[in-house]
Amino acid sequence: MEEQKLRELFHRLSVHDKIAQTIQLNGDLFVESGVMNTGPAKDLGFQKEPNFYEIGSIYNVNDHQKLYQIQKDVLENSSHKIPLLFMSDIVYGFRTIFPMPLAQAGSYDFDLIQQAAEISAKESYLNGIHVVFSPMLDLVRDPRWGRVMESPGEDVYTSKEFAKRVVTGYQGEKADYLQENHVAACIKHFAAYGAPEGGREYQQVELSNQKLFNEYLQPYEAAVEANCELVMTAFNLLNGVPSTGNKWLNREILRERFGFNGVLVSDYAAVQELVSHGFAKDEQDAAKKALEAGVDFDMMTAVYANALPELAKDRAFAELLDEAVWRILILKNKLGLFEQPFRGLTEPNTGEVLTDEAKEVATKLVEKSCVLLKNETALPLKKTKDQRIAVIGPYAESHFTLGFWASVSGRSSDVLTLKAGLLEQFGQDQLLFSRGFNLYEDYSSFGPLKAGFEQLNGPIEDEEFLLEQSLEQAKKADVILLTIGENFLESGEGASKTNLRLPEKQIRLIKKLAELKKPIVGLLYTGRPLVLTEVESYFDSLLLVWFPGVMGGRGICNLLVGEASPSARLTMTFPRSEGQIPIYSAQTSTGRPLGENAHSERFVSKYIDETNEPLFSFGSGKSYADFEGTWQGVEEKTDGIHCCYEIVNQSEREAWVTPQIYLLNHPAEIVRPMKRLIATQHLLLAAKERKVVTFTLSKEEFTYFDNEGARHLTSGNYTLQLDLLGIKNNQTFHLVKGE
Ligand code: BGC
Repeated sequence: MEEQKLRELFHRLSVHDKIAQTIQLNGDLFVESGVMNTGPAKDLGFQKEPNFYEIGSIYNVNDHQKLYQIQKDVLENSSHKIPLLFMSDIVYGFRTIFPMPLAQAGSYDFDLIQQAAEISAKESYLNGIHVVFSPMLDLVRDPRWGRVMESPGEDVYTSKEFAKRVVTGYQGEKADYLQENHVAACIKHFAAYGAPEGGREYQQVELSNQKLFNEYLQPYEAAVEANCELVMTAFNLLNGVPSTGNKWLNREILRERFGFNGVLVSDYAAVQELVSHGFAKDEQDAAKKALEAGVDFDMMTAVYANALPELAKDRAFAELLDEAVWRILILKNKLGLFEQPFRGLTEPNTGEVLTDEAKEVATKLVEKSCVLLKNETALPLKKTKDQRIAVIGPYAESHFTLGFWASVSGRSSDVLTLKAGLLEQFGQDQLLFSRGFNLYEDYSSFGPLKAGFEQLNGPIEDEEFLLEQSLEQAKKADVILLTIGENFLESGEGASKTNLRLPEKQIRLIKKLAELKKPIVGLLYTGRPLVLTEVESYFDSLLLVWFPGVMGGRGICNLLVGEASPSARLTMTFPRSEGQIPIYSAQTSTGRPLGENAHSERFVSKYIDETNEPLFSFGSGKSYADFEGTWQGVEEKTDGIHCCYEIVNQSEREAWVTPQIYLLNHPAEIVRPMKRLIATQHLLLAAKERKVVTFTLSKEEFTYFDNEGARHLTSGNYTLQLDLLGIKNNQTFHLVKGE
């Protein structure tokens, strides 16, 4: 619609029409095919029930027929015929569920990550979704927090690249998402939701400004630069102010400094929670503060609906309301909803999902996101006919390997299990399956889903029986393939933990199997870094498979048999013990670093009961091939820093590899991290191939922010480190600020 027409429509709206546009509720409002169900809305405490056909948006209805009917009803029953906006928690796939984001990021194959986002967008579009609530760009350094699975991890560079590529994958190149098969991206959670104190869900965040500007805000800013259309606020306090009522954060930083002019959505009930925080004295005050902070949509509360009629009598607030509604209408218009209210839903529509192409991309992403943490001799597995493999552990047959958010639109029945993947590679007589332990203690918490869950996951059995059974199977085998880890409910929202060890029964099984002195290959299914210190030495090989998505079984098996070589690197540190947390790569040096100073051993920066080193550091990840890399030169030129290194594949196999370039501590007015990732490449090298890699780093990579948020660049010597599977090679160069 032309802007002039949109303005005319906007001017025809009454205050009540406008307020209705700021309401976002979930799909429970509508029962079978679009019929209104006001029950759940009443529970939200609307003082005067709004006409639900006039509200701005609903979310998490993922059935295209239902969405069609709802939109039809809205257009028939609303006075201004403003189409509803359909949003959804599509976090890492609609039906083609990809590996969880923390896993994907470790692939460092950003082209593939973008392709996966394009597929998610297409499936969402064809099923009637207009906006996806992702990517989540909260930097995470505390694995006790359950939502680390949704994030690209602890590192700024990785998160920025992930942000840009996922947003572009969803929306298309440069706000091009109006075209078919794309959706608008709602990044979240602004800001710093990933740093709750103690890793406890929804807990407050305390961050210095320099950490905020140099690290935590960076991925969101990258997404804004990539034109993300929406931003979601966060639940947390940031330095004493709730994000959802934080004017400085949302207006000064997000809108003015970053130049964001899209729609700001509150997180679920976060406007109302301004009262629970003690930041607003009542709901009226909460509405006032959220509106002042620039929150356009009130998700899942009646606060805007109840408070704004009174508030908007004041001219200043009426203007703020106008601003919010105008932004919402612009978004609807950009999505083409006024011309095509059934966008993506028009006939013929098969709601096409899980195509062969999508499965192919998902399989590749599994291969590229599993991290080989350890490998002595067992991997890749031999495929000789006489080899027998004891496949122990509940994940082999489990369909619940999609991870927390997949349940919104994904289906466990779509999963190609590990067992199915193994049967594609090995004869039935070579594989001896046993469950080993119950992954769930009981199914009672699943309510009405209990029966289906039990059917797909098997009945709960006696632990002793399961242990004995697996020991018997293991005795008959040459190699043990043992699946261990978390169940999918142990990570995701609301799943903070203080104990990151494996459950006792899993540890016992590992130790008992180790007594058989056969090589054990561990497959670790988890949504977060775990503490594996006690068990790591029992494994010959350990492959971290995360929650790998629908094609997990096939991708993992391609790695196990060597049809693909592992190339992923950890984007989040695995601590040796919970007491080391937070432990991450980009740390600063203390005045008394361990082993490098004149102080006695006692008075240096260390623990007296634990080393300073993690079990698996950020960037860990092995390959089946061997690589060597050497710098050829680093030179400052007018357009940036020109870098060149040579890489050689020393092995007899073709393999992908992910060299990482770190910037070591450098001259600055504030103390900068001892090392910080600033570039990566993702390369395929044939057996024995030698390649020269050149790239240019912009000078911006060498800048930093002070505590006032001002950007600096300092002249001096800088050292770049090329890290190739843990082998490090340094090159120093002189940078002249040249302003
Ligand atoms: C989560 C968001 C999510 C929203 C809607 C909230 O609890 O924090 O990430 O998008 O619910 O489901």
